[in-house]
Amino acid sequence: MFETIAIVGATGAVGRIIRQLLAERNFPHKRIRFLASARSAGTTIDFQGTTIEVEEMTPAAFEGIDLAIGSTPDPIAKEFVPWAKAAGCLVVDESGYWRMDAEVPLVVPEVNPEAAFTHKGVIASPNCSTTQMVLAMKPLHDAGRIKRVVVSTYQATSGAGVGGQAELIDASRAALAGSDHTPTTFAHPIAFNLIPQIGSLKHAGYTSEEMKMVFETQKIFADPTIKVCPTCVRAPVSNCHSESILVETEKKITAEQARALFAATPGLRVVDDLANGVYPMPRDCDGSDDTFIGRIREDLSSDNGLAFWCVSDNLRKGAATNAVQIAELLTKHSAAV
Ligand SMILES: NC(=O)c1ccc[n+]([C@@H]2O[C@H](COP(=O)([O-])OP(=O)(O)OC[C@H]3O[C@@H](n4cnc5c(N)ncnc54)[C@H](OP(=O)(O)O)[C@@H]3O)[C@@H](O)[C@H]2O)c1
Repeated sequence: MFETIAIVGATGAVGRIIRQLLAERNFPHKRIRFLASARSAGTTIDFQGTTIEVEEMTPAAFEGIDLAIGSTPDPIAKEFVPWAKAAGCLVVDESGYWRMDAEVPLVVPEVNPEAAFTHKGVIASPNCSTTQMVLAMKPLHDAGRIKRVVVSTYQATSGAGVGGQAELIDASRAALAGSDHTPTTFAHPIAFNLIPQIGSLKHAGYTSEEMKMVFETQKIFADPTIKVCPTCVRAPVSNCHSESILVETEKKITAEQARALFAATPGLRVVDDLANGVYPMPRDCDGSDDTFIGRIREDLSSDNGLAFWCVSDNLRKGAATNAVQIAELLTKHSAAV
């Protein structure tokens, strides 16, 4: 058991869900600490009946912490992870900063749990749009080896943190009232709109968010030959990312076989009855730790293609749940050795 655990970024959109999950899942610990910026230091948070003061994240703050789940912007993670490691604190990090570091395992517990045990003090959790996709890919890859993926995302505003969700509400109110609203979190108006850019221009016309989906997928499956063509779009949805996914496999997988494979996979839930208007939608998946799959059908344009629709709560399985599951893996492992 990790005696003293901490959440770094405990006041953020993901940090709030990590707190809920640790409580709901009775994560074993003796003491918990909440770290954030100087802005939040001194505020209090109720946790399992105790009022806990938020502390400012400083190098000294990591003394005595055995396990930290980090959920901060990338530059903050870059700064604090070495402080934590120097203090002997193991980190499970949500940010994008450490994910592609060759020494840092990138883990989705249902897909590559074994990678977690190769850590050297830090384990990364993937980008939210990657996590739900690789979870859905896993049973198909095991059954027929995926060669190629074409994915278009419809990503919720909560993916941009508390500021993103607040901006959707403010911008929608302003649009309905006919008043002006200046975007701050997003580069363009988010109300009644779609923004086909998440992150900055990164490579050959693809954004940083899109290249995360390429590189993280290849790292998680330890297979750089899997080809991924992503288009990431910000949608005026409060929470839960949706993805239209087309995979091409080496061995043909029928829609019926895929439905059975998805249904047998822990963490996936099949919701698929087009004739009756039943498929996963963000509103229905909000608050669930499962990833939902629907619209399963064979590709009309290729021999071994399979298309489906995938929705997941980006704050939960896309972020907090995955990180807490990694921490649980480590707890079980340390109990077993
Ligand atoms: N949102 C998602 O769906 C999602 C999914 C996967 C991964 N992630 C990643 O998770 C991380 C957190 O995302 P979020 O959506 O929770 O963002 P957020 O709502 O903006 O929260 C950011 C957190 O980081 C803290 N922080 C900011 N500057 C700090 C500093 N100088 N020192 C210490 N703490 C600082 C904030 O504390 P204050 O409240 O004190 O400012 C807050 O607790 C990001 O790296 C994001 O890319 C997010």
